[in-house]
Amino acid sequence: ITKLSFPRTAFYSFSVTKSVPEDAEVGSNVSLVAATDKDSSFNQEIRYWLRAAEGRFSVDPVSGMVSVAGALDRETKAEYELLLVAEDQGRPARSATATLLVQVSDVNDNVPEFSASQHQAVVLETALAGTSLLTLSAVDPDQGQNGNVSYSIFQQSPPSDPAVFSVDPVSGMVSVAGALDRETKAEYELLLVAEDQGRPARSATATLLVQVSDVNDNVPEFSASQHQAVVLETALAGTSLLTLSAVDPDQGQNGNVSYSIFQQSPPSDPAVFELDPSSGTLRLVRPLDYSEVKVYSLTVQASDGGTPSLVGNSSVEVKVVDVNNNPPEFSQRSYDVEVSENLAGGASILSLEVTDRDEVTQRHRPGLQRQRPSVPDDPGPPAGP
Ligand SMILES: *[C@@H]1O[C@H](CO)[C@@H](O)[C@H](O)[C@H]1NC(C)=O
Ligand SMILES: *[C@@H]1O[C@H](CO)[C@@H](O)[C@H](O)[C@H]1NC(C)=O
Ligand SMILES: *[C@@H]1O[C@H](CO)[C@@H](O)[C@H](O)[C@H]1NC(C)=O
Ligand SMILES: *[C@@H]1O[C@H](CO)[C@@H](O)[C@H](O)[C@H]1NC(C)=O
Repeated sequence: ITKLSFPRTAFYSFSVTKSVPEDAEVGSNVSLVAATDKDSSFNQEIRYWLRAAEGRFSVDPVSGMVSVAGALDRETKAEYELLLVAEDQGRPARSATATLLVQVSDVNDNVPEFSASQHQAVVLETALAGTSLLTLSAVDPDQGQNGNVSYSIFQQSPPSDPAVFSVDPVSGMVSVAGALDRETKAEYELLLVAEDQGRPARSATATLLVQVSDVNDNVPEFSASQHQAVVLETALAGTSLLTLSAVDPDQGQNGNVSYSIFQQSPPSDPAVFELDPSSGTLRLVRPLDYSEVKVYSLTVQASDGGTPSLVGNSSVEVKVVDVNNNPPEFSQRSYDVEVSENLAGGASILSLEVTDRDEVTQRHRPGLQRQRPSVPDDPGPPAGP
């Protein structure tokens, strides 16, 4: 009885700390925490129990060996404070307790996870190198290097050398690294990688769609720097002379070209020509007169709809072609001539002056010269049509 009054069940150590990898298999041993009992005989038989094990650990009741009883996950619970109870078989039974602190150690069992599997960004085509687009974020709950994520661009499509974009491996900031031009490439798709530093490393991918947005960086360009048109002076108002065409590869209003006449030489008021702003067709709005102007020189412009607008220019030379639409004209309607009665035969009495405003080549009789004096019985050819 005395003996029973003073049982001496005790653990060697009051508190033990053990480390178990989180991927430890069920059944694997953690630690042997043995107890002693100074009583003799049947009291020596000690039995073990475990408290606060949450189903993750168990103890062999006889040996006191604590082992893993359920799957562990450091990211869920990294530490267990187990209470180990040792009880002898005396009556009444005496017990002792010890704590077993189990630290679950990290294994690189998590893949980095991007905040989104698809990202989008818009960047101006004039953005300089270093302009940031967005900052990637991938989370890896593992510890230390197992959860230390570094970013990289695995693929750029369409590809380019050097690459147009770069990513800071530590911060995940994606930036412009080269020259952009929407007119050449309006969209890029990047395949991004987030990789942890574990051994072996684990990685995840995500995409980034970059849209290059337009800037009015192209001047409308005419198909030719000089144009020529030939028109008969009898052409009717409304006759189209030629159609200009200018190309501006910019997008939307930045590439929407409208045409105008900037300058005309010689000038005319009211206007002789009209340039359709959208079609670029140059038309006659008033009849021409070769005898007044033989060649018109126009400076034409193509302006885009950007803000500010960019302007391209070109020139148009309009040649007016003479038509025999002017009758020869006497210098006077009637002539009064006094002739003395004793005038010798063949003597000259009058010099008639006849002019024709048409071009020489347009006359019926090529031999006839402009403003050449004529004789009375030969007033020149009849008026042309
Ligand atoms: C656990 O420990 C016990 C007792 O020391 C031993 O018999 C057993 O083989 C061990 N189990 C493993 C999986 O190591
Ligand atoms: C992550 O890894 C890089 C490169 O190995 C290292 O420079 C950096 O200090 C690490 N960061 C952390 C938080 O461990
Ligand atoms: C170009 O601009 C004109 C005038 O602003 C507009 O009427 C026309 O619809 C535009 N065309 C296009 C293709 O955007
Ligand atoms: C027309 O274009 C030429 C060449 O692009 C340029 O040198 C000239 O200054 C322009 N003229 C006008 C009036 O815009």
